[in-house]
Amino acid sequence: MVAKFKGFFITVEGCEGCGKSTQSRLLKKYLENKGFKVVLTREPGGSTVAEQVRNILLNPKLKIAPLCELMLYESARVQHIEDIVKPNLAKGCVVICDRFTDSTIAYQGYGRKIDIKTIEKLNNIATLGINPDLTIYLDIDPKIGIVRAKAKKCFNNGDRIERENIKFHNDVRRGFLALAKKYPKRIKTIKTEPTVKDTRILINAEIEKFLSKRKKNV
Ligand code: TMP
Repeated sequence: MVAKFKGFFITVEGCEGCGKSTQSRLLKKYLENKGFKVVLTREPGGSTVAEQVRNILLNPKLKIAPLCELMLYESARVQHIEDIVKPNLAKGCVVICDRFTDSTIAYQGYGRKIDIKTIEKLNNIATLGINPDLTIYLDIDPKIGIVRAKAKKCFNNGDRIERENIKFHNDVRRGFLALAKKYPKRIKTIKTEPTVKDTRILINAEIEKFLSKRKKNV
């Protein structure tokens, strides 16, 4: 049985360079100013063990088979859920996670072409049944996003995933768009605007809608 938590769980998703890390930080501040206790975390990573798995996953020097890649993302997720997500939701915090299971469907499913049903099963196992209450999907054309992402990263010419070709990144975007269509109640699509501030305003509007619905249901 899936536990009911006092806190709630928001995930932020999108292709490379969509600005989700910046927007996740701004969202944390926005919710804290409203009096919520907020934990900001990320996948892959977010806890000591999972950050080590992240280093393997993003290392451009390593050649990793698609199925091994999938299992590594899922194994990092198990530890992250156990160490960070579950205990903080139980304490009543809002947990914001920069990437989560939708990324696995988009990247390993639509990008690497691993069977989606298999990924869904593994996602269910790895998350212990914990699903996001709300997902903000920041939509960007990969042609623009990938240039932005590579400019920021510590690996020259991008990390292992960023180095994939444009077709891979376009397929990943198709994956996110398909998920947004399949789960319109949970996933809110926001087109990334030219300025951080404009995108932030659109996100905050979605958050307000979510909070008022939640208030009515409590
Ligand atoms: P980022 O957090 O800096 O965006 O880097 C994480 C990379 O890992 C990004 O390229 C997306 C990728 N990723 C997957 O391929 N599958 C997953 O399940 C997750 C969470 C991330």
